[in-house]
Amino acid sequence: MNPKKIKKLNLKREKVIRDPVHNYIHIHQSIIKDLIDTPEFQRLRRIKQLGTTAFTFPGAEHSRFTHCTGVFEITQTICNNFVQNYQSSSPNDGLWNDENRLTALCAALLHDIGHGAFSHVFEDIFDTDHEQVTRNIITSDSTKINQILKQVDSKFPEEVASVIAHTHHNQQIVQMISSQIDADRMDYLLRDAYFTGTNYGLFDLTRILRVMIPYEKGIAFLADGMHAVEDYIVSRFQMYQQVYFHPASRGMEAILILILRRSKYLYENDQLKGDYKAPNLVPFFEKNYTLSDYLNVDDCVISTYLLNWRNHPDPILRDLVNRFLDRSPLKSVQYHHGQNYLINKLIELIEEAGYKHKYFTLKNFSKDLPYDAYHPNAKKPQTQIEIMTTNGELHELSEESSIVKALTGKFQIDQRFFFPREFVRREEFITKNKLSRNKSNAIFDEFQKTLKLF
Ligand code: NI
Repeated sequence: MNPKKIKKLNLKREKVIRDPVHNYIHIHQSIIKDLIDTPEFQRLRRIKQLGTTAFTFPGAEHSRFTHCTGVFEITQTICNNFVQNYQSSSPNDGLWNDENRLTALCAALLHDIGHGAFSHVFEDIFDTDHEQVTRNIITSDSTKINQILKQVDSKFPEEVASVIAHTHHNQQIVQMISSQIDADRMDYLLRDAYFTGTNYGLFDLTRILRVMIPYEKGIAFLADGMHAVEDYIVSRFQMYQQVYFHPASRGMEAILILILRRSKYLYENDQLKGDYKAPNLVPFFEKNYTLSDYLNVDDCVISTYLLNWRNHPDPILRDLVNRFLDRSPLKSVQYHHGQNYLINKLIELIEEAGYKHKYFTLKNFSKDLPYDAYHPNAKKPQTQIEIMTTNGELHELSEESSIVKALTGKFQIDQRFFFPREFVRREEFITKNKLSRNKSNAIFDEFQKTLKLF
């Protein structure tokens, strides 16, 4: 891109946004301010970064909006460091060419623009893909985001989208925004640690940014900053174990999935009408939605429907909605593949107690790969973290760090079967179901006996 054109985009005076993680978000280009001011970006204020996690960590009310501005700020700091220390002086020297700055900044700011309501819940139930939607919002003529990006250059939206799709020719920008150690992950770990009030996600961001170095194939890390990188990997691992996989948040997420499942059934059977209509969800029930339909759904829309459905004549929907609004998470048991026969036994007992298992139980599989080296034949090959020694050689991180080696290539798997919590609370169970006390006790005892076999 023409550097003169970029200059013209600069604001007369720097603008700042206060931020609890980075102190200030610094805005220098009018295009960044304009992108933030679009309805598509403002929508991110209405999508919580961590979905149902706030039911477990009440501080975690922060939104995708603040995360996106944070990723922008980290990316900007990386660009500043690169200009200061590793500015390219000839086309193939492998150093940083600052003409790429605006592309990197826009991709950073917009990387999560396509997120759906309650983060991953919406994707799960309506089979949407937020990364695909992100690219559509950037490249479709119908959005304000697209119109603003086009002011730079008619091909600029495609260029920004290609960073998010990992196909941009400059791997330095791609790795800045999306790799195993990128501005996205660094921001969400620090931000989620801050807002959940936990310390697991903390690491030395300033040090990591200082030891980043561009080279012809991407970004490496100077050897004397290796321990800061190691600490980041361990922090991320801990956040998954302690926060992201938390069974109570996932038990709330399970209820939300079941609510949407039930509401879809009611819609298909003409029972979601009058006061209980959910017009913004109809295109998704019908599996025929446009980009603007997608942008018309956020956490607030869903929350409003839930409040209405508290009084819905359908007892199943009403029950589920009350569990969600009054925070009564489903309980769960961890299981592995060979234990499906035990799950079936639990389902039988749940049905016997008068619950439809399709709307009161859920199998859920979560996994995370804390770190992996590059495997060209893998389904999703990872860009490995390269440590640069003093003589300029590159060594893959796990060869240098025995702590990281212990986590390398090892999926952290959390497979759970969710069920109503009264199945582990005898009195609640007896009051809630319509069976005789004796029958209730018998089912309850059998359930506990089965749980012990896992
Ligand atoms: Ni993100």
